[in-house]
Amino acid sequence: MTTSNRRTFLSAAAAMGASLAWGRAEARPSRVRWTERRDLYPQGVASGDPLPDSVILWTRRPATPGQPAPVLTVEIAEDEAFQRVIAVSRAEPKAESDWTSRVLAAGLKPSSVYFYRFTDQTGSGSRIGRTLTAPAPNDGRPVRFTFVSCQSPNEGAQNAYRRMIFEDERRPADQRLDFVLHLGDFIYEVTVYPEDQPDGRYGRRIRDFVRYPDGEAIGKFHIPGSLGDYRLVYQAALSDPDIQDARARWPFVCMWDNHEFSWQGYQSVQVFGGKARPGAKLKVAANQAWFEHIPSRGVRLPDAGRDVFVGPAVENVLPTTYDEHGLGQEPSNLAAISSLKLWRAFNYGRHLELMLTDNHSFMGPNPVNDDRNVFGVEGYPFAPDEVVRIIDAGRTYEGGNPPDKIRFGNDEAPNWRKNEPPASILGAEQKAWFLDRLGKSRATWKVWGNSMGALDWRADPQNTPKAPGRPEWPADGGYGMYMVADWAGHRAERGEILDFVRKRGITGFGTVAGDRHAFFAGVLAPSLPPHPFEPVGFEFVTGSISSVGGGEVLPRVTKPDDPLRALAVYDPPNGAPTVAAMDFTCLHGVRASFELQATHDVARAKALHNPDCSPHLKFLDSGGHGYGLVTCTADTLTCEFVGLPHPYERAPGEDGGPLTYRVLHTVPLWRPGEAPVLQQAVLEGDVSLHT
Ligand SMILES: [Fe+2]
Repeated sequence: MTTSNRRTFLSAAAAMGASLAWGRAEARPSRVRWTERRDLYPQGVASGDPLPDSVILWTRRPATPGQPAPVLTVEIAEDEAFQRVIAVSRAEPKAESDWTSRVLAAGLKPSSVYFYRFTDQTGSGSRIGRTLTAPAPNDGRPVRFTFVSCQSPNEGAQNAYRRMIFEDERRPADQRLDFVLHLGDFIYEVTVYPEDQPDGRYGRRIRDFVRYPDGEAIGKFHIPGSLGDYRLVYQAALSDPDIQDARARWPFVCMWDNHEFSWQGYQSVQVFGGKARPGAKLKVAANQAWFEHIPSRGVRLPDAGRDVFVGPAVENVLPTTYDEHGLGQEPSNLAAISSLKLWRAFNYGRHLELMLTDNHSFMGPNPVNDDRNVFGVEGYPFAPDEVVRIIDAGRTYEGGNPPDKIRFGNDEAPNWRKNEPPASILGAEQKAWFLDRLGKSRATWKVWGNSMGALDWRADPQNTPKAPGRPEWPADGGYGMYMVADWAGHRAERGEILDFVRKRGITGFGTVAGDRHAFFAGVLAPSLPPHPFEPVGFEFVTGSISSVGGGEVLPRVTKPDDPLRALAVYDPPNGAPTVAAMDFTCLHGVRASFELQATHDVARAKALHNPDCSPHLKFLDSGGHGYGLVTCTADTLTCEFVGLPHPYERAPGEDGGPLTYRVLHTVPLWRPGEAPVLQQAVLEGDVSLHT
């Protein structure tokens, strides 16, 4: 891309709904009279999707009532004082774009820091943003980025961003972050109004965050009912000072997860209380609001080329027929989910290729949620592992030998999935793109930016010690899965991808993920014991920025007399606060957690470790918040988990408050035929219940 000319960039800018700011060879002092007026740019500035020679700049400047529509001058400079301005252009925010503006800054130098600002015709200017271009393709220097997900200013503070900024400002220039990867739940479309939960939620104070004029109440939540509502929730999120500071400091590379459209559901379908309802109009609205507020190189259809998002006309009709990959064939569904195509990939020098997939627009209905799946044991929060495998794989189970019946303990039902195709998250077209890109990648590290986790999250309830009043998992019932909604419940497609990696001898492959509101470090394998365990990649999952996680909830909701209490929470001696034990249970097995509660001795408990339960996991904290910091070099990939306490309130200091831990995982590059291995170093904090 470094040799691309101005004409190429003009059409590229048009395709992404941006104007073009072309970098010139000679820098000059600014001639613009600029007075910072942050109040006129209430969502600040942002940049996104950097390439070696270009990056997209963004702001939102609503019209001032009674004044002409704003016409903005955007300046890009090599210095923060704007004495070395290398590009100047215009942007005209429109009401049709919610007063947002995108500018493609191009003709830039690779691996370079730039500063940018917007100024209106009266001299009122935005805050100054900082951004960076990607390294040149042959650049062999290390690449550094953080990955984040799940920010909820409705019920928490974004101290993680504060910490990220604090640390980055203090690093030597050549060790600073290149970009921030945001893996979704940038917004939560489900919002709580303070009056609905005056006592808070799981100990969190509810902020008066956003009100939906066209919204709808679902239980104690409110959901958007229009484009205007979706825009409001982005405006509210971007008014958060820490989100705004982070966007002003680094380019963001963003992929959505579920909450950018609808909590539960798939494609353009919403699901509430287990009931599906058509949501094509809202899916288009959600896509438009995302496009308007997140600067990205995502592709719009059918109106690419205009500076406003004009979505397709769609009707709310529930799909009734699906292709072999779970894609609903109803025309409005297809038009809605195609209105913004976000799967894409980036190269950062020699050592990193980052591939991003959209895990919700093409995901089929999850058969594990079918009413006929009644298998499990009351009291255990687990789905039978093998039952999930059968239901997910359909006719492809065990190489095309699905059983006629599904059996669990004394329960038995006909296998209704016997003749059906396996479930899909990616859909056919996206999966073909992803595998092609992965197979051709020459980067040292091929990192899949995956909004959803793929590491199995399971325990061994079959080993629960018997006791009076304690429910019994069948002795031959096998392992129990704690999570089935993401890749862990989509074993067939996950296996297809991991088999591709193994058969092609691809090394340096792994994923970074979000969504789980939990930190995970481990190795990816198509299956776990009693099936073969053959890892082919690594995975790191980041805790949420601020959303509530399972480890925070369990101590508040587990009943004191629950006969399985020790699996969920640990009550330390001497009245110390109860903490989650589910992580410990999944890492070491149920016997370890019962032993921990009985003896309060972590070492004795770990001595009962079940090596077959989670041989793939090195770290699990479902109550952690913060971010992952990845560094890619020629021979190692490291991921540092920076853990923060529950973000009840905004930390007063500029450092974002104290850390709970800092844990470093190192993955040495492996050779074809070798298995990836994770090394762990605890740099700070006590993580004995998470390792
Ligand atoms: Fe989330």
